[in-house]
Amino acid sequence: MLRVENVAHHFVGPDGTGALEALAPISFQVRPGEFVCLIGPSGCGKSTLLRIIAGLLTPSMGIVTLDGMPIRKPQRRVGLVFQQSNLMPWRTVLDNLALPLELAGADAQTRTLQANAVLQRIGLGGFGGAYPSELSGGMAQRVAIGRALIYNPDVLLLDEPFGALDALTREQMQLDLMQLWASERKTAIMVTHSITEAVFIADRVLVMSRRPGRLRADLTIPLPRPRRLDMVHAPDFGALVHQIRENIEAP
Ligand SMILES: Nc1ncnc2c1ncn2[C@@H]1O[C@H](COP(=O)(O)OP(=O)(O)O)[C@@H](O)[C@H]1O
Ligand SMILES: [Mg+2]
Repeated sequence: MLRVENVAHHFVGPDGTGALEALAPISFQVRPGEFVCLIGPSGCGKSTLLRIIAGLLTPSMGIVTLDGMPIRKPQRRVGLVFQQSNLMPWRTVLDNLALPLELAGADAQTRTLQANAVLQRIGLGGFGGAYPSELSGGMAQRVAIGRALIYNPDVLLLDEPFGALDALTREQMQLDLMQLWASERKTAIMVTHSITEAVFIADRVLVMSRRPGRLRADLTIPLPRPRRLDMVHAPDFGALVHQIRENIEAP
């Protein structure tokens, strides 16, 4: 169980003044294996919250725990994916995937074995020797997801992972991510700007208010799984999208 308890954050300027309240106290829980989408206006503190959950940022207030253990620094049980793949252009796909292992001092054989296993899981079997410049945007994002999976984390955090992709690639990536999540039973929290994407993917959608972000709504998405692309045209899907939009736009 992942618990966010009364977490708030303000950024302080370099001279110690000009505090900016980025995140109002926020509390919620995510059950193991649940897929939660986080949605809210730009600048409301979504990335800040995700960085706190990842242990990359210490909150001004509150605590995040995973199975009762406080998260105070990055850990292997939590994988993180950003909008940009941030691959190293001079390293092959396989070497990019293996980077976290290399930094942790794993031997070459272990690195190759584990990176190859992840390569299959992200559907890029034949591309281990390719360089990032040879990949499409969608493929590069797959590698970024693979790199986050290298330690087989229990929790996957994704910050607008498909935001830079074209619409068709994005749909395919949504389907593939859901399949990966379903087969590996991970807990996932994904930030997205797209209401449709949130409803399509999530078990639950958390709606945040404008900065300083607070939790405005916590909506269960009761659509059956596996989800199919044609579901977005169904009336119940439309009703959920409408409900979230109203929550985002309400004063
Ligand atoms: N390192 C930082 N220093 C100062 N202010 C920041 C920093 N990171 C983010 N902010 C500010 O905090 C607010 C929330 O940012 P962010 O979490 O990135 O929002 P979101 O991801 O919802 O768009 C914004 O006003 C942003 O400018
Ligand atoms: Mg952001």
